[in-house]
Amino acid sequence: MERRDFIRSSSKMVAGTLLPITLVEVAFGMSAKPEEKQVEDFTFAFISDAHLQQIKGTKFVRNWDMGLKRAVAECNMMSPRPDFVIFGGDLAQLGKAAEIDHGAEILSALHSPMKMMMGEHDYYLDLGEHWQKCFGDTHYSFEHKGVHFVVLNSILVDEEWTNKWKNPMARMQTMAGLDDPNGSPFMVGEAQRQWLKNDLKDLPKETPLVVFSHSPLQKIFKGWNFWTDDADLIQDILKPFDKVNVIYGHVHQIQYNKINNISFNSVMSTAWPWPYPQSYSKVKPTYLPKMTIEMNRADPFFERDATGWQMINVHTGRTNIHYQLPNNKNRTVAYNHKHERPEDIDFQEKKIPSQEHY
Ligand SMILES: [Fe+2]
Ligand SMILES: [Fe+2]
Repeated sequence: MERRDFIRSSSKMVAGTLLPITLVEVAFGMSAKPEEKQVEDFTFAFISDAHLQQIKGTKFVRNWDMGLKRAVAECNMMSPRPDFVIFGGDLAQLGKAAEIDHGAEILSALHSPMKMMMGEHDYYLDLGEHWQKCFGDTHYSFEHKGVHFVVLNSILVDEEWTNKWKNPMARMQTMAGLDDPNGSPFMVGEAQRQWLKNDLKDLPKETPLVVFSHSPLQKIFKGWNFWTDDADLIQDILKPFDKVNVIYGHVHQIQYNKINNISFNSVMSTAWPWPYPQSYSKVKPTYLPKMTIEMNRADPFFERDATGWQMINVHTGRTNIHYQLPNNKNRTVAYNHKHERPEDIDFQEKKIPSQEHY
């Protein structure tokens, strides 16, 4: 299918519905060099941060349920049907077995194969026991039509913090707060870094890489855990590859950035938007990357503001993101090959000042 037709069929759905989902198109095209591995065009979808919350028994917070159910329904209506759907973590709100089971049931309605990633809200009650029983490994890799995909578990913290709690729910609730000072910075950790090195060691350097993580594999704002402590070490492991794309959840807002060979893009949540870290920059130092420009939010009181839908085109091995925002002007963040960085056409080309001028 032509990319044009694909956008058209996607746009039809956007017109009728608000899509709290990320649809990803991978379209590298055929390689000109015969020695390079050929990559077929294909699509996959990305749903993230559902935060299903049990009230009591079979009663769950309705709004969060509806966000996920709608994403699943719309995924099933997509044409072409996505080759697979990745769920980006935070399926549960407080890590309860009932919440994870409830999420698994809603996701089981997907017609495409599903890949799962763990978020901190799925983990810090029972340290991932129930999640793993339902979904299996927390880190793994797979090949799909010439692209190498990696899923990392980036929400671990050191053992001392993990084991210091007498009550697992107290640990979970501390991690569930956006700005709880008793939390601890996330990391991928030594064992997974070794695993990743090993996973990539025989891979040709021109192979397109897409790495999924729940927290950003870059340091944005430590106070809110928009942060992964060993991000620099992971970036080093990814350095030898020509085209690397990191796509992450957790931040519930649009962010993009580039560090060396790596393009970073966040996805939105089906549940609610988080505020922007700049709002706290007077209290704590902010490390928001220069290239990241926040979404211009029309209405913070609108329940679906900063939730939405985006299509990611990776045609040249770099991510171009087309954001469909329910209550706001649509945006495109495209990779500018001349400047070698992702740029928001409205902000960079029309000289609208970025956050660094504020
Ligand atoms: Fe989340
Ligand atoms: Fe999260």
